[in-house]
Amino acid sequence: MNTPTILTGLRVNSELTLGNFLGALVPMVRLANAHSETFHINIFVPDLHSIISDIDGELQTNIIKSLKYYLAAGLKINDNIHFYRQSYVPAHTELSWMLNCIATMGELNRMTQYKDKSAGKESVNVGIFDYPVLMAADILLYDAKYIPVGEDQFQHLELTRRLAERFNRKFGETFTLPATPKEQITFMSGGSDQDGIRIRDLQNPERKMSKSNPAPNSKIMLDDEPTTAAKKIMSATTDSLGKISFDMFNQPGISNLLQIEALVNDLPLQDVVSTWSGETHYGDLKQKVAASVSTMLADFQRKFATISDQEIFDLLETGETYANEVANKKLLSVQQAFKLR
Ligand code: TYM
Repeated sequence: MNTPTILTGLRVNSELTLGNFLGALVPMVRLANAHSETFHINIFVPDLHSIISDIDGELQTNIIKSLKYYLAAGLKINDNIHFYRQSYVPAHTELSWMLNCIATMGELNRMTQYKDKSAGKESVNVGIFDYPVLMAADILLYDAKYIPVGEDQFQHLELTRRLAERFNRKFGETFTLPATPKEQITFMSGGSDQDGIRIRDLQNPERKMSKSNPAPNSKIMLDDEPTTAAKKIMSATTDSLGKISFDMFNQPGISNLLQIEALVNDLPLQDVVSTWSGETHYGDLKQKVAASVSTMLADFQRKFATISDQEIFDLLETGETYANEVANKKLLSVQQAFKLR
């Protein structure tokens, strides 16, 4: 029987945020540590996705740093863990072109992330528009079943499923369909019934925490001093209702803090919510979350400093050999379906 695959990627256009960390990186590390005996664990850097927009810092430095982050977050390495860079596996762009030939303008036009990124702009590059098709190729090349991502990426997962279904219908069973977003959440949360993860902007909790928001207090970066991160939590926007409850609609700021507290401590959200429910002092909750986040960051940054670049280059060398082998095999079956081979 084929070993199934869990796969994820983080764009490294700048330092990563606590949103990237809690929405995708930590879930991937926990899934990998729990399942790497029975799943392939593909951890890749979507560097070709990075060049659709500006890059802060040096792309190469950001790439190596982001891969060290998985190790610093506790990833245990074994032969089923594969690190690779997208641009080192040319099959990604080749499959992406072929999927372009079955994707429609209408479905790409509907992507929320595209709408957000193009809003109010006179002209946007084609890469921004076509980005979800490359993401579908990233997933389908490896027949990945589970893709730990934050809730903002679920629409792209739905598109990936649709493209795979359309291709299979037209050419015969070629791609494994990734699990539905609901199944992904169940798998990621170990069976409990939760929503997808969306860490909110600390100043404006209606919005997701995003690296592209220039306001420093809106987001926690993984290289923030732990004391700075604690101050940002203490100054987070809440509300005037004066009671703690988990209600993303009416109390997004408080709910965001409860969510962060649960994820940082690896506790079920329900447990954290019931501990705090009915309490009235927002300051106490903020202090607890600030302490959790600063302790976690200090520990994480300490481990990060012990990992050498060479360790990552060694992992990339074996990972990219593996990825090219698997991806080229799948690419050949798609080329054959189109009668290119
Ligand atoms: P990117 O680089 O925008 O974000 C990386 C991951 O972080 C998650 N994330 C969040 N989760 C919770 N709360 C937030 N505030 C938050 N902000 C970001 C994102 O959901 C994502 O999981 N298209 C992807 C990269 C990609 C990819 C792939 C992912 C390319 N190909 C194939 C998985 C599989 C992206 O731009 O994520």
